[in-house]
Amino acid sequence: MPDGHKSLQLDGIYRSIQGDLDEVEGRLREISGSSNPLIAEINRYLFQKGGKRIRPALLILSARMCGYKGADHIFWSALVEIIHTASLIHDDIVDNSTLRRGRDTVHAKWGPNISVLLGDFLYIQSIALALKTKTYPIIDLLADVTSRMVEGELIEFSVNGSLDLTEDSYLEIIGKKTAGLFAASCRIGGLLAGISPRPGERLEEFGTALGLAFQIVDDLLDFKGEEKTLGKPVLSDFREGRFTLPLLHALRTTGGKDRARLLDLIEHRKTRTDAPEQVQKIVRAAGSLDHAFERAAAFTRKAKEILAEFPPSEHRSSLVRIADLVLQRNA
Ligand code: FPP
Ligand code: MG
Repeated sequence: MPDGHKSLQLDGIYRSIQGDLDEVEGRLREISGSSNPLIAEINRYLFQKGGKRIRPALLILSARMCGYKGADHIFWSALVEIIHTASLIHDDIVDNSTLRRGRDTVHAKWGPNISVLLGDFLYIQSIALALKTKTYPIIDLLADVTSRMVEGELIEFSVNGSLDLTEDSYLEIIGKKTAGLFAASCRIGGLLAGISPRPGERLEEFGTALGLAFQIVDDLLDFKGEEKTLGKPVLSDFREGRFTLPLLHALRTTGGKDRARLLDLIEHRKTRTDAPEQVQKIVRAAGSLDHAFERAAAFTRKAKEILAEFPPSEHRSSLVRIADLVLQRNA
């Protein structure tokens, strides 16, 4: 089974916060346990180790970098991971994805009806737990970010298959569906540490830049990754009509025969078995993979520039290394 955690080589970076991450795992097990056997069974399937836990790590490292000495970051880290997990259950239904991290998705295993309900359950449970803390600035932030995630998914779905999608609209979609929760995780770390509004905003901007880079690389891997490492088929975004940065760039820049070929492949993407291979060739020749990589690299540069505004520490160095790894990952 491909292990996203290992393939991102986060182990070394996580060493300084391993104790905290272990506590997050414990909290996840505790929260996801249920007297309902079906909920308990699906949650066991979902929360076993193997995820990258990147959002909890960002929250913990941000809090620590800003001098937080308390223990509430464990609870909030578990909560953002639960919200993320709930969103993936729904996303896999919307995206018709049957494989994630090399295993059946929840809807492939239990069907869409149960999956929608389980996603709802996890999300509302996390909000109910958050409300008990009465920490309204964080609850506000989480409610706001999740509604933007839904909006991002809605926009993405509504432009499905469209050849007119611009790079700016693509960035708006990934900003909402992915970068928002990265940003919120970092901001929560800052809020817990009680930092002033301006550095808090900068921390959020760091998370946004990192999240954008993460999603661009995710979309790039759909074109150039390997199924074995990715744990899901390559070109699945393309086949399902989710046109991401490399394809948008190729559509904008290729002309002549390649363009005609590309349009034909797009039209027959569901039926032509050679479509993935042909599209890969055209997109590569158009320099679109390099273009997407460069845009991701620019966002990680921005993320690291923001980090340089914070005092140096082991935790800040770990955040810099996460930014580098996000760019280098192959799964
Ligand atoms: C993965 O994108 C999906 C997201 C980052 C966000 C999904 C958000 C929702 C479904 C709305 C929020 C819902 C709840 C219940 C909180 P992707 O499809 O590009 O990535 P993938 O390749 O990992 O599937
Ligand atoms: Mg998806």
